[in-house]
Amino acid sequence: MVEQRLRSLFIHSAAQVVTLAGPRRPRVGREMEELGLIENGAVLIEGDIVAAVGPADEVAAALPDTVKRWDARGLVVLPGFVDAHTHLVFAGDRVQEFELRARGLSYEEIAHRGGGIRTTVRQTRAASEDELFELARHRLRWFLAHGTTTLEVKSGYGLSRQEEVKLLRVIRRLQQEGPLEIVLTLLAAHVVPEEYEADRSAYLRMIIEELLPDVAREGLAEYHDVFCDVGAFTVEEARILMEAARAHGLKLRVHAEQLAHTGAARLAAELGARTADHLDRVTEADIAALAEAGVMAVLLPGACFHLGRRDYPPARKLIEAGVPVVLATDFNPGTSPTPSMPMILALACTQMGMTPAEAITAATINAAYSLDRGHRVGSLEVGKQADLILCEASDYRHIPYFFGVNLVRAVFKRGRLVYDRAREEQAFRE
Ligand code: NIG
Ligand code: FE
Repeated sequence: MVEQRLRSLFIHSAAQVVTLAGPRRPRVGREMEELGLIENGAVLIEGDIVAAVGPADEVAAALPDTVKRWDARGLVVLPGFVDAHTHLVFAGDRVQEFELRARGLSYEEIAHRGGGIRTTVRQTRAASEDELFELARHRLRWFLAHGTTTLEVKSGYGLSRQEEVKLLRVIRRLQQEGPLEIVLTLLAAHVVPEEYEADRSAYLRMIIEELLPDVAREGLAEYHDVFCDVGAFTVEEARILMEAARAHGLKLRVHAEQLAHTGAARLAAELGARTADHLDRVTEADIAALAEAGVMAVLLPGACFHLGRRDYPPARKLIEAGVPVVLATDFNPGTSPTPSMPMILALACTQMGMTPAEAITAATINAAYSLDRGHRVGSLEVGKQADLILCEASDYRHIPYFFGVNLVRAVFKRGRLVYDRAREEQAFRE
């Protein structure tokens, strides 16, 4: 019998199972608070999928005694986090600039003096593909330990035909290695590199005529992103790039309205981008346009926090207007060096007025839809992939409440135990 060949695991007696069961589309407005919570819940995993989920006694009644069990007493079970915006692959760090900011310099001033993204580009170009792979692989362990099971990863610190392809190959190797599921995004349009300073249009031509065809031919990216902001690319440049990317079959994401209001959010709406990310300076009219076009808003409060800003994106206005909101880390060396989704949830609740339930929806099912994977991951429903985490908490709200503490005990990806804190602690003691 097929059933006997499948690995089964019955996770039972959880204080709460957060299922996120609901309509098969991004959650908007009041729906963002509907977690499909089950007290004293259970999840049955068969192979790599969720075979049953519900109250522990109901699920247990249908099971043979021989099935492997995991007692989740005192734990909350929820879908693995989906981090829909990261810049995972880079060499070096920006601690010097971090200290300069602590001494009063702004991110923009540092970038204007040749630092910022360009600092990381210099360090990243000097690193080999293998070195970058090892660095990123090590960081992926941090993501996993904080409960992330799927993440989007952008290129963007190579900024030449060869160097961007090098980064995408690193990301593809990480994707092939697993266990985390990775979604690839080309961000050659991060800033104009030094060598094209005098001729910006030549850099755009390189992306459009050389890099995009290379990337499309090798199937190296699923999405295209552009940093449309002061000091980066204008709305007109972004439009040209996005249209070219779309013509090569890439889907669109945009860094929009982070440092200044430029009109990038409107452009995202006009071109039907999947997401507009950051949105710190978005206006009411922009919000209406995003809602109308069905563009999802990826909010990145880690960047505001790390830059010491107080003007967080207007999450409440976006939710009230019916824009599906997503939360992500924006993991990068310049503005948000955190791999921790729980920390992002804490910031969403304390700095943007999102409720804990809205924050969890934004970090799981909505994030999954923003990566076109909502049919498969982001909720615990029968038939979906068994990507789930067990947290040391008796109430899901403990996750954003105990900020700065990692409550994640165990992580399952495609039904397999891929992180177990008890084992890591044991290995540390040995
Ligand atoms: O998302 N805004 C552009 N990109 C990153 C920052 C990258 C960097 O400073 O290295 C961001 O915040
Ligand atoms: Fe970013």
